[in-house]
Amino acid sequence: MAFNFLERLLGAGAYLGVDIGTTSIKVVELVKTKGLPFLRTYGFLESYGHLERPNNAIQTSSLKMLENETVDLLKMTVKHSGSKAKTAIASLPSFSAFTTLLEMPLMPDSDTEKIMSFQAKQYIPLPISSVTVDWLRVGEKKDENGDKKQQILLISVPNEIISRYKNIFKAAGLDLMALEIEGLSTARILTSGIAEDTLIIDIGSRSTSIYVAQDGNLKFSGQTDFAGGSLTQTIASGLNIRIRRAEDLKKLRGLTGTGGEYELSTLMMPILDVIINEAIRVKNNFEKNYNEKVTNVILSGGGANLPGIEKYVEGQMALPVTKAAPFSKITYPSDMEPIVRDLNPNFVVALGLGVKQI
Ligand SMILES: Nc1ncnc2c1ncn2[C@@H]1O[C@H](COP(=O)(O)OP(=O)(O)OP(=O)(O)O)[C@@H](O)[C@H]1O
Ligand SMILES: [Mg+2]
Repeated sequence: MAFNFLERLLGAGAYLGVDIGTTSIKVVELVKTKGLPFLRTYGFLESYGHLERPNNAIQTSSLKMLENETVDLLKMTVKHSGSKAKTAIASLPSFSAFTTLLEMPLMPDSDTEKIMSFQAKQYIPLPISSVTVDWLRVGEKKDENGDKKQQILLISVPNEIISRYKNIFKAAGLDLMALEIEGLSTARILTSGIAEDTLIIDIGSRSTSIYVAQDGNLKFSGQTDFAGGSLTQTIASGLNIRIRRAEDLKKLRGLTGTGGEYELSTLMMPILDVIINEAIRVKNNFEKNYNEKVTNVILSGGGANLPGIEKYVEGQMALPVTKAAPFSKITYPSDMEPIVRDLNPNFVVALGLGVKQI
């Protein structure tokens, strides 16, 4: 390509993956290499303001984003990371998109495209002119009569949200090349090359997203508003302590306490059980729809770092449970080794976005 030399000067082959969560921003700069993508640098900003003032979250479930504040925080995170890449790929939170699973006869993609272009609107709860619609073939099977069927995941995102993201990235001096819902990035980085159906529980701050994925593809999803923030809240009110103190206690002790600390896990378990029950519901629906079995569970998002959570979920779900390890899919500077274990569940979405182009 004619402009190749220019691209090289500008750091071509390097991409930013940007995950703007409810209470945090994560940025990774990934570089193309002959082998696995290389993480040149990363940035992680947690906004604690929200803990005391719930309205101050970076995003709210009502789909409103505090644009200017987000621009400032994004700029700060990118600057701090020292990244040079200007091309960014960003994630949209699951709650900003409507996803529907459809089943129809197996046909070439070009035919599915034609059908979706005029049928999609009947599945979308908003005027078709106000949303951007995308679809993915996520499964194939034979029905009782031996006819081949395909499962289509229909994704629609309000245009208003897309333009808000475009504005934010432009104002932050970045070139937004693609947007995708975070479930797709999560599925890509955590399940590529794995043939088994995996249940992923992404415990964020404001919401928990639940996915079933296989070989890098998102096949099914669900969501609950019980998440890391609810765990902190319940500790704060149960022990009558400040939110900030409850947050620290949660991270330090988690479910592993005994004696005096036992109360902490007693307080958190009912909330975790709500999350787990929702995960089981999603799993059962998936298994019924696809006639396949989920064989393992991966915990993702900041909440996956809760001490003792793997063992607890394993006991409740009777499936093998592991903590997400997206850093195993890339290479990174060796001095990062000691912190990778803890960063792992936080960087699932950002890394999943970063490897998309590579
Ligand atoms: N070591 C830890 N132990 C327990 N919880 C933790 C730990 N580290 C982070 N968390 C929790 O993880 C949550 C933040 O997770 P994450 O960064 O994935 O959220 P987010 O992406 O900003 O939010 P959302 O996905 O809801 O928009 C917070 O509730 C925080 O308390
Ligand atoms: Mg998140």
